[in-house]
Amino acid sequence: MSLQTQTHRITVPEIRAHKHAKPVVCLTCYHAHTARLLDQHVDLILVGDSLGMVMHGLENTLGVTLDMMITHAKAVMRGSSHALVTVDMPFGTYEESPQVAFRNAARIIQETGATAVKLEGGTRMAETIKYLTERGIPVIGHIGLTPQMVHVKGGFHTTGRTKEEWPALEADARAVADAGAFAIVLEGMAEPLAAKITAEIAIPTIGIGASAACDGQVLVMEDMLGLNPNPPKFVRQYAQLGPAIEAAVNAYASDVRERRFPGAENVYPMKKAQ
Ligand code: KIV
Repeated sequence: MSLQTQTHRITVPEIRAHKHAKPVVCLTCYHAHTARLLDQHVDLILVGDSLGMVMHGLENTLGVTLDMMITHAKAVMRGSSHALVTVDMPFGTYEESPQVAFRNAARIIQETGATAVKLEGGTRMAETIKYLTERGIPVIGHIGLTPQMVHVKGGFHTTGRTKEEWPALEADARAVADAGAFAIVLEGMAEPLAAKITAEIAIPTIGIGASAACDGQVLVMEDMLGLNPNPPKFVRQYAQLGPAIEAAVNAYASDVRERRFPGAENVYPMKKAQ
């Protein structure tokens, strides 16, 4: 008998089964310690390409590379054992063809041990989603506000606020679901459209700035923990870790400057000579 504790990592069918049932709880995560902290409390961990801004100070997600995603995903896998880990495919690694997408997605799955990948785009990515899922790579779709389109759209704009936009976005959601994705992120979408799409498709919708009508929610963890001084308007902050970290660092700096910091003489007392 193995002495190791057997832990069950949530599976793709289990996430799918959240449709019309309990909401899917998802957060982004990019490193091992935080993965350990949130692992038992969420169903899904997303190693999002938002790590470009959050971890690396980039202006948008376009500079994120496959190697960066793989490095952070490995750390998250080491820190977690329960939540299903999905990794974003960064800009430039999947749009060219289903074959290129497969090669890069396979690298993510093989090198990190994560279960699934996420990629942006609706109808235009359906063929690729089908190609990946038929070959063993589970996919989460992502429509609405798709940050990798920032230059084409001229910024980050919410979607679905006029009814004229709805048919194309509904067609995107259907195409992603029909192609075999097991869930879909709806980002920056007006509530009536998010609710309509959620009712129309058979896979869970996971909203970010897309209202409580979705089958689940995802937030960038640093936004909801109060580490981002300018979080998006829709984010509820559940903690203020930014000010807490600043206060702790300030207290530490005072201790060091006042020589109150315990020195090596206390931690490692000198041994008596034999
Ligand atoms: O990269 C990311 O964090 C995401 C979420 C915002 C859904 O794609």
